[in-house]
Amino acid sequence: MTPLPAPTDLTLEEKVSLTSGAGFWRTEAIERVGIPSIVLTDGPHGVRKQRAGADGIGDSEPATCFPPAVALGCSWDPALVARVGAAIGAEAAAQDVAVLLGPGINIKRTPLCGRTFEYFSEDPVVSGVLGAAMVSGIQSRGVGASLKHFAANNQETDRMRVSADIDARPLREIYLRAFAHVVREAQPWTVMCSYNRINGVYTARDPWLLTTVLREEWGFDGVVVSDWGAADDRPASLVAGLDLAMPGPTRAGDAAILAAVEAGTLAAQRVDEAAGRVLRLIERAGGRGADPVDQDAHHALAREAAGRSIVLLRNDGDLLPLRPDTSIAVIGAFAVEPRYQGGGSSKINPTRLDTALDEIRALATGTVTYHPGDPLDDAVAAASAADVAVVFLGLPAAAESEGYDRDGIDLPAAQLALLDAVRLANPRTVVVLSNGGVVALPFAEDVPALLEGWLLGQACGGAVADVLFGVVNPSAKLTETIPRRLQDTPAYLDFPGEHGHVRYGEGLFVGYRWYDARDLDVAFPFGHGLSYTTFHYGDASAAVDDAGGIAVEVSVTNTGAVAGREVVQVYTGVRDSAVTRAPRECKAFVSVPLEPGETREIRLTVRREDLAYWDIRVDGWVVEAGTYTIEVAASSRDVRASLSVDVAGDDIGLPLTRMSSIGEVLAHPVAGPALAEAMASAMPDAGSTAGMMPEGVDVARMLDGIPIQRAIVFAAAGGADVDPAMIDALLEAADRPAD
Ligand code: BGC
Repeated sequence: MTPLPAPTDLTLEEKVSLTSGAGFWRTEAIERVGIPSIVLTDGPHGVRKQRAGADGIGDSEPATCFPPAVALGCSWDPALVARVGAAIGAEAAAQDVAVLLGPGINIKRTPLCGRTFEYFSEDPVVSGVLGAAMVSGIQSRGVGASLKHFAANNQETDRMRVSADIDARPLREIYLRAFAHVVREAQPWTVMCSYNRINGVYTARDPWLLTTVLREEWGFDGVVVSDWGAADDRPASLVAGLDLAMPGPTRAGDAAILAAVEAGTLAAQRVDEAAGRVLRLIERAGGRGADPVDQDAHHALAREAAGRSIVLLRNDGDLLPLRPDTSIAVIGAFAVEPRYQGGGSSKINPTRLDTALDEIRALATGTVTYHPGDPLDDAVAAASAADVAVVFLGLPAAAESEGYDRDGIDLPAAQLALLDAVRLANPRTVVVLSNGGVVALPFAEDVPALLEGWLLGQACGGAVADVLFGVVNPSAKLTETIPRRLQDTPAYLDFPGEHGHVRYGEGLFVGYRWYDARDLDVAFPFGHGLSYTTFHYGDASAAVDDAGGIAVEVSVTNTGAVAGREVVQVYTGVRDSAVTRAPRECKAFVSVPLEPGETREIRLTVRREDLAYWDIRVDGWVVEAGTYTIEVAASSRDVRASLSVDVAGDDIGLPLTRMSSIGEVLAHPVAGPALAEAMASAMPDAGSTAGMMPEGVDVARMLDGIPIQRAIVFAAAGGADVDPAMIDALLEAADRPAD
């Protein structure tokens, strides 16, 4: 495509027009100078391009519905996620879509969030790595991704107004970390700001978020686009760093921008900058091809990805996989009317739809009967007559959706009652779940086999059949904890907030960080997932690498009879940390294919930046010096090797001041010994309890926390001869670099 004109070739009005949409899904064209309009559309797990002339979001062009992030994330496989992304990118290009609105990488703070099906994980490293893979895949086809929803959009209740009130450490370490990773590693063409506020400020108008953090700290050079309708104060958004307000146009918004430029409250240069970025986006999008899509190949990929997303939670007595000649009673309407994606803007019009019943019949050689499981229905009798009952349970579509949150995590009572009756009639019962957010599993220990199928996209039925019969050996693991009770969940007391504010009171302790710190029992832990084979973890080692991170090596052997994949996870912790920390945090992972009997030496890298915590004293990332525990694990609660490594810390050069505590000064290599000496001569009795302190007090520990300036007051009042100037000299000397 020929280069587009520069912003300098455009009038101010034309530039302003580029900073908002032309209708719901397009940017403005400027025909005078040959600037075309481009299409942005949802996302994230397929292309939802509204049909020409359609008036609802439900009426879109057919596209492959891949497994939503809740499922695909459980593959823990960036290569697979990138392949799905590339297929979505190819379909977008074929439909003349320039920007695909996804992936969504918000953290699953509470299982009640109605939209958790669109997100990958409760963990920021997992979300960041998989989100980056999705962006790279989409963009490999010359189509831009839109990383969303930036940021802290962790609930749907009041999502357009609520302020997520978050302390600096969880904001940085949990909620922004994944975004930083994706921006740095995959350079998405666009980032979509969210609707909500963070600590009182709308993200669409937040210069700290959109400019200081996103551009200046992380180096983002693309377009910041608003979530649909989030930029309702266009001048304020432009000032903050938002480039493209969608949808549009808003004539009043354009007029307000022109008036602000006229009044000098908005620099014309900021309009140039935003328009320039939109022009660059249009230019970039001009490079995409539009090859026809091989729909069969994409359906096959959707089936492969769905099979890699199903988590085998339980398989007692190796009930699964089923032999093809097993007689099966298939029970539950989801077997014929699958729930395979969530509601709202991400809802794809699939190119086709497999049902589990058809696909089970296609693979089975024994008798297969089907019963919806309605009252009076003969499901229970059929279960007792069959070798195995396969019961499909799940949430009704309206129970979870964009735009509102869930009321609870229980499956419908009628389904639980049906399951009870079926498993009593035939203990060889397999449960297959369809749900976008986690559900309570009170029956987990009462059924021998349990598959978490999440929402698996249009090839759901084939993928479930593949796993049931062992055509696919399950290898997915949970990217979120399945709790025993809603009351155990981290945000239980701080959700959904009130009067426009939701306080993230659990702080850093999101997901497994919470359950581990509180030592709470869970139904199934983060990282858990079984296979039809077994894996042995051999020798493991860990050492600091050249970049200051940690290189971890472990050998893993497939000790069973069939090929499989193992998701190896690495968790870190810090012994005796000076800051609040979760017992373990996932910092690296890999999905490894292994033939029966095969052993592989696996190397994983914990990046130094992922070891860092956010230090509020310096407003920056700091790696604490200390002994780090390195756990090589099959799940967050199945640690196979525990190692430790001494890591050198970052020198943050905090100066000692008169408000430094005695303990802090004593710990200083220069000032410490000098202060100890001064204390010994000024207060010879400080170590005893005589006089100043009541019986039974550890004086040294009490003194430890007293700021030096206050200690001077106490010492002087006690008759000691302390010269404050001498203390100042000592503190200054401590902070002078050695000659
Ligand atoms: C959603 C976004 C979506 C946009 C466009 C918004 O309501 O929050 O995720 O991309 O609509 O459909």
